[in-house]
Amino acid sequence: MDDFSYRDGRLGCEGVDLVSLADEFGTPTYVYSRATLEGHYDRIAAAFAELNPLVCYSIKSCPNLEVCRVLVGRGAGMDAVSGGEIERAWLAGCPMDKIVYAGVGKTEPEIRAALSGGHSLLNDAAAADRGAIGWFNIESEQEFQAVAAIARELGVKAHAALRVNPDVDPKTHRYTTTGTKETKFGVDLERALAFFERFGRDEYLVLDALHIHLGSPIYSTEPYVRGVTKVLELVDKLESRGHAIKTIDLGGGFGADYETDRSPHAAEYAGAIVPLLRERVAKGTQIILEPGRTISANAGVLLTRVVYVKDGPDKRFVICDAGMQTLIRPALYEAFHFIWPAIVGPGHVPPRRAKTLDLPGLVRCDVVGPICETGDFLALERDLPPVKRGDVLAVFTAGAYGMSMASNYNSQVLPAEVLVSGGASRVIRRRQTVPELLAHER
Ligand code: LLP
Repeated sequence: MDDFSYRDGRLGCEGVDLVSLADEFGTPTYVYSRATLEGHYDRIAAAFAELNPLVCYSIKSCPNLEVCRVLVGRGAGMDAVSGGEIERAWLAGCPMDKIVYAGVGKTEPEIRAALSGGHSLLNDAAAADRGAIGWFNIESEQEFQAVAAIARELGVKAHAALRVNPDVDPKTHRYTTTGTKETKFGVDLERALAFFERFGRDEYLVLDALHIHLGSPIYSTEPYVRGVTKVLELVDKLESRGHAIKTIDLGGGFGADYETDRSPHAAEYAGAIVPLLRERVAKGTQIILEPGRTISANAGVLLTRVVYVKDGPDKRFVICDAGMQTLIRPALYEAFHFIWPAIVGPGHVPPRRAKTLDLPGLVRCDVVGPICETGDFLALERDLPPVKRGDVLAVFTAGAYGMSMASNYNSQVLPAEVLVSGGASRVIRRRQTVPELLAHER
């Protein structure tokens, strides 16, 4: 699951004590384990090895440059969804031709930066000859026309994958469902043939791939099987009309262990998906995967300090320095994150991470943040060991969509990020300061 565990009542990461990190670097702070990041990436790569896929880490899940560098070092490509993420991927050392670029609203400067280093959004001369990205995942007719026109103007060739919407319900939160008809993503299967007939012979933007992404997290293999099956039917149809499909990008969405053993293992997803694609891959089709959360979620915890404990008429509030500005998932999706003190007494070491634990002496609390909204909570009605002012709590499985969705709401500064690797720790993004927060307005 991950490399965060209790020893003698103290939570550690790869042997590094987390309260010591909170003391040294302050709170709130995201702490990532390099071993977990690498382990999860390796597991995906190994499980799908028979398909020899390009595993493009979904940057949006945890975009820190150092995290990207770790994964690039492991052989990962990158899944980007903005010009900013393309620049991150490049700075992290990812070869441009291992970058896929999705998103429904790509703007002209972003498209230029994706096609030509001379248009890098970093204004960095070193980018000049970096070349074009691997694939544009195209989400609409107008977008295809826009990218193709710029590619022609620049005289640059690039590959495009048509993102199709297979209308498969991934059975996850409606805000993170993407592969059903009523969402804004991709074009529906019925329109795909007409799309290829219209654009499939463009000289500069070579349309020779398909992309799906159903949503996330997806805790069963069945939506993938249905999605892939529909895509393969489309591939046959397209190829019979003379449109060769060289690459199929299956997107991301694999689960993470927010609770112990919550998610299928990489091998289970692969067990369902690989047999469907084996034959195609043998004939030369390339497969792309875009996992984010399944690599980064369990690789991170959020450390937060208890500022005050307040007993209301009906319940106890544990008021922390992290809130919806630090980790918005509970507020936005009512997402569950296991939360536990980083130091516990005998009898309070959690036997597993679960919504409820049958341990003596737990106290029911709302774990809330400092933000002036009732929706600002990390957990509601949660049984915790007794905590007091100054205690450090760990919010687990916070590596994905934690820091990447953090905000300055209520003029709170962005947290620090720390990477633990083999017994050592270092800051990979320092905490924002109040002068920095105000710099663009003064
Ligand atoms: N590929 C595409 C095209 C995507 O849109 C996404 C995620 C991924 C890959 C990676 O999905 P993953 O493997 O990380 O599940 N903020 C939400 C999740 C939004 C996901 C957006 N797209 C959350 O906190 O649960």
